[in-house]
Amino acid sequence: MLSKKDLVVAGLALLQGSLASLQIVPAATWTAAGTNQHVQAHGGGIIEVDSVYYWIGENKLNGSAFQSVNCYSSTNLVEWAFVGELLSRESSGDLGPNRIVERPKVIYNDATSTYVMWMHIDSSNYGEAKTGVAVSSSVCGKYNYLGSFRPLGFQSRDIGLFKDEDRSAYLLSEDRPNGLRIDRLTDDYTNVTSNTYLWPQHIEAPAIYKNDGVYFMFGSQLTGWATNDNKYSTATNLKGPWSAWADFAPAGTNTFNSQTTFILGVGKNVMYMGDRWLSSNLMASTYIWLPLTLSGTTATLTEEESWILSEQQPWTPSHTKTIPEAESPSNTLSKGAVILSCSGCSGGKSVGYLGGTSNGTLQFSGISSNDTTKTTVQVRYENGDTKQRYATVTVNGKSYVLAFIPSTNGNTPFSSTLNVELHAGDSNAITIRGYGEGWGPDVDCLVVPER
Ligand SMILES: *[C@@H]1O[C@H](CO)[C@@H](O)[C@H](O)[C@H]1NC(C)=O
Ligand SMILES: *[C@@H]1O[C@H](CO)[C@@H](O)[C@H](O)[C@H]1NC(C)=O
Ligand SMILES: *[C@@H]1O[C@H](CO)[C@@H](O)[C@H](O)[C@H]1NC(C)=O
Ligand SMILES: *[C@@H]1O[C@H](CO)[C@@H](O)[C@H](O)[C@H]1NC(C)=O
Repeated sequence: MLSKKDLVVAGLALLQGSLASLQIVPAATWTAAGTNQHVQAHGGGIIEVDSVYYWIGENKLNGSAFQSVNCYSSTNLVEWAFVGELLSRESSGDLGPNRIVERPKVIYNDATSTYVMWMHIDSSNYGEAKTGVAVSSSVCGKYNYLGSFRPLGFQSRDIGLFKDEDRSAYLLSEDRPNGLRIDRLTDDYTNVTSNTYLWPQHIEAPAIYKNDGVYFMFGSQLTGWATNDNKYSTATNLKGPWSAWADFAPAGTNTFNSQTTFILGVGKNVMYMGDRWLSSNLMASTYIWLPLTLSGTTATLTEEESWILSEQQPWTPSHTKTIPEAESPSNTLSKGAVILSCSGCSGGKSVGYLGGTSNGTLQFSGISSNDTTKTTVQVRYENGDTKQRYATVTVNGKSYVLAFIPSTNGNTPFSSTLNVELHAGDSNAITIRGYGEGWGPDVDCLVVPER
């Protein structure tokens, strides 16, 4: 007979099996519901309101000039839905054509019941070096743009925000001539009152996270769009003393090829959010989200190909996976789909000519899963175009549209993630064809979690 404790343990195992399989896959194409585009929230941050995560960042679909500040929502940090533009392009002014609007960050002001957004505002040659402020009564609604200025008269490019437990809040601001600043915000969070700390070292992309009474400031060195070994510094008081800058990822990895944008607490877990910018096609920049371990005054970033994050449990690497090959003889290729040679692909082959007017189709059969669970399947692909491609992916009779950003990384296939219900057993069917009459990607293989 099972004891109550056994039942609780069994229940937990069931919960883990059924709920905790969705995965964060860094550097993949993340298709947003509502747009069917790779998520456009670069240089962004996340704010949690009533158990919903809102991811706010830059839309780079059309290059570096300002298009919009976007907001996406999710309850699990994996499945993201586009909600709307918080700021949109205007005919002139700070939000007009050919303007720079970067690193939007939002905090909530409890006294005024207002969401306050700060961002970097600049001319196209980055000569103005100002901050902009916008406010809204709704986290993911339209924001009212208040204007721009140089905080305390100093240049400001990359920014971050930090709200402390006592509700005092701070602007983190890269001042090119002088260094990195922490400036105290006014009580309504729409202006700065005074400087709290100034590092003479040149660090940008700043983000503060507080853990067990220790403030951790993260940021990158100044190497443009290229990545470098990002740094952190700690203190028990925002006024300092702050420790010397140190690496939090292994030296030489360039922070696993990413630049800090935000640090998010998720239950007892801490997640690092970085951008892997692709300067030649900024919309195809990817998101490098990785587990960050903070202990005492030490920060350590872990590299994971994919990982499972939840508020209730410590994060884990993802489960072992099977890798069904597109060119496998057990698959069905029809309507013009053909096996291509692909030097970077597993097995040296991919399947191409999916979609198009002939409707090329690749059908995988016998995809196995140990559990009936919603999980994250990766479609590994190559897309040699300079624009996204799309595919209709049908899993056990249900269809989804997936985006595929250009795979400009030499011959190495990229992944596009699909969050989908698989059945226990080996009878899952996955079919990939084009979207409309466009060409889909060349598919290397699937990556399917065993559970
Ligand atoms: C895209 O950017 C180009 C160059 O800045 C501009 O001429 C064009 O109007 C933009 N298109 C959209 C849809 O924003
Ligand atoms: C912001 O603060 C500065 C310095 O105290 C002040 O000069 C400026 O007028 C303030 N801006 C607004 C919009 O209140
Ligand atoms: C391709 O085939 C599918 C399945 O038969 C169909 O639903 C879809 O409309 C076709 N697409 C085109 C472009 O013919
Ligand atoms: C899935 O099932 C197979 C066969 O029983 C087993 O070898 C494998 O360890 C299981 N994988 C996981 C992640 O539980």
